[in-house]
Amino acid sequence: MNEIKCNADTGNSVIYTGEKISSFEKYLKGRKTVVITDKNINRLYGNHFSNYPSVVIGTGEEIKSLATVEYIISELIKNGCDRKTFILGIGGGIVTDITGFASSVFMRGVDFGFVSSTLLSQVDASVGGKNGVNAGTLKNMIGVFRQPEFVICDPEMITTLSDSEYLSGLAEVIKHGFIRNSSLLSFISDNRNLILDKDTAVIEKMVFESVKIKTDVVTEDPKESGLRKILNFGHTFGHAVELINGIPHGHAVAFGMICALKLSHSLNYITEADKNYGINLLKNFGYKEDFNIEESDLFDCLSHDKKKSDDKIDFVLLNKIGNAFIEKIEIKELRRWYNDMCSGS
Ligand SMILES: NC(=O)c1ccc[n+]([C@@H]2O[C@H](COP(=O)([O-])OP(=O)(O)OC[C@H]3O[C@@H](n4cnc5c(N)ncnc54)[C@H](O)[C@@H]3O)[C@@H](O)[C@H]2O)c1
Repeated sequence: MNEIKCNADTGNSVIYTGEKISSFEKYLKGRKTVVITDKNINRLYGNHFSNYPSVVIGTGEEIKSLATVEYIISELIKNGCDRKTFILGIGGGIVTDITGFASSVFMRGVDFGFVSSTLLSQVDASVGGKNGVNAGTLKNMIGVFRQPEFVICDPEMITTLSDSEYLSGLAEVIKHGFIRNSSLLSFISDNRNLILDKDTAVIEKMVFESVKIKTDVVTEDPKESGLRKILNFGHTFGHAVELINGIPHGHAVAFGMICALKLSHSLNYITEADKNYGINLLKNFGYKEDFNIEESDLFDCLSHDKKKSDDKIDFVLLNKIGNAFIEKIEIKELRRWYNDMCSGS
């Protein structure tokens, strides 16, 4: 087990990688605790928290809403919770985002922690103190910055995850390698088969390295005023294809990373060999380089991107494998580049 501290002006958090769900009780320190979870986790892991009152929510992005927060708060009130109650979210990114938000507004804020159960939530959603809910179809429009007191990352829980959810998290791990740590990418390449078999030792290592990278970035820039934006590597084109084609998050982010590698090469920031290394690494895990997307749909979507201002977009590029930076690019320039790339010129 490893312990990583994430201390920022949004609060202090300790992330335990390689810890077990069965150990969560010791972190509660005897406080009255209510568990928030979803119906799948309740079915698969409910035996671990059957001694605690629990609020079980549904699954899917539609559940990440203010209506669910209201439901959670009404259940907390029914359970006699007060300012000293501890809230434990057990689940993936939807459960952790909504638990963090509900805990931050219930009685103006009570302490909370997570047992993070998906690869994406262990390496991304649970780290860094962003909590929130969607406003209709607009993602994460309502939220707060506030860190969980602790996060437990149990590699065994990842073995019950569907392959598609697993690949969503893996794309974020690979992203961390591209932006900050080329040796993480070498580890991933060298352990391809074990990774695809969901070997718990390699999962534990990938989670540890990823959490360290995200924690470093978040500690330097907790509220995303600069550096933290590099965590959006692959997400500009990625979010757009996810919205347009409804493809799983991991495949969408991988496609976005491939576009970003190609753009970094076109702008002479990385060599052709580095570009090909990155693309082949992603393709080796089954991520696709092409989706049949109408260019007009793609750029319609990009023009509504949250990272856009004055027709320019904060685009995350690489100047070498393992080092990212942000460049403002005009959307019309990006469109020209995209058309040239698609026509093979
Ligand atoms: N706060 C942040 O910084 C941040 C960062 C990235 C993503 N997010 C958010 O995270 C959310 C996505 O999170 P996610 O990918 O974890 O999805 P999720 O929470 O929807 O979980 C995916 C599915 O897997 C199931 N599941 C969870 N753990 C399981 C396990 N161990 N075994 C079997 N099934 C399991 C869930 O019930 C669900 O059906 C999005 O809403 C996104 O906006 C937040």
